[in-house]
Amino acid sequence: MEKKLGRNDPCWCGSGKKYKICHESQDEKMARLESQGYLVPPRKLLKTPEQIEGMKKSSEINVKVLDYVQEHIKAGITTEEIDQWVYQITTEAGGIPAPLNYDGFPKSVCTSINNEVCHGIPSKNVALQDGDIINVDVSTIYHGYFSDSSRMFCIGNVSPEKRKLVDVVKECVELGLEQVKPWGFLGDIGAVICEHARENGYSVVEEIGGHGIGLEFHEDPWVGYVTEKGTGMVLVPGMVFTIEPMINAGTNEIYEDEENGWTIYTEDDSMSAQWEIMVLVTETGYEVLAW
Ligand code: MF3
Ligand code: CO
Repeated sequence: MEKKLGRNDPCWCGSGKKYKICHESQDEKMARLESQGYLVPPRKLLKTPEQIEGMKKSSEINVKVLDYVQEHIKAGITTEEIDQWVYQITTEAGGIPAPLNYDGFPKSVCTSINNEVCHGIPSKNVALQDGDIINVDVSTIYHGYFSDSSRMFCIGNVSPEKRKLVDVVKECVELGLEQVKPWGFLGDIGAVICEHARENGYSVVEEIGGHGIGLEFHEDPWVGYVTEKGTGMVLVPGMVFTIEPMINAGTNEIYEDEENGWTIYTEDDSMSAQWEIMVLVTETGYEVLAW
């Protein structure tokens, strides 16, 4: 049995403030919503100020790695070299690349080119070519705190069609981000993302989504991008999750690489793009932790 927290006791979040002036009213509001049938996050998904600090430091490394990649990526570079950059910068900063050995993943970063939807494995046999589009998905563990974000890069002369896909998916993430506010719904995010993708003639991958993050790489909730407004988990300050839609120029059907058991491709070989941000729900809206 857990002892009920008194109103004058220190808040459960570790702020040092009294419960009654810290999280009490939020807890009451969540209990009310839950009794009305809404899906509210369990307390463990609401990060404390201390945890948020840790996640911000982790995110700083993640962003630094992506900035380096952005600065140096070009035709002729192999994805193995990108992997080495990621490993080196992350470890020099005191972090650990989260993908390395995650469920047996063999490298420090995911590099997904053209028709690869996600989870591309860096290789010395894959050199970037003029006209490629590539997603570099970086994730970091720092003092036990996880961060995760990814960007697209256009290599040299990229066709207008591919460039448009890359740009529209970025817009999708930005539109999704605008939906992040306390007492909104997770489903509001996917609703605007799939609307914008489809308006542009693209399809949205349904089987793979974003996720809560912080104390683990992948936490609840699962974040899908074909959803309806007003559905899914209620957004509450302290939640941290990723917005990372995978959007295809052709069909949204996908398949997994049989040999490596990781890489996901579009069924029809059409181009696929993804951007990933890691976002914190705040009292007033959102804060981007990593992009
Ligand atoms: N970074 C991916 C994500 O956004 C997860 C990759 S798992 C890995 O959730 F093992 F492939 F790295
Ligand atoms: Co992610």
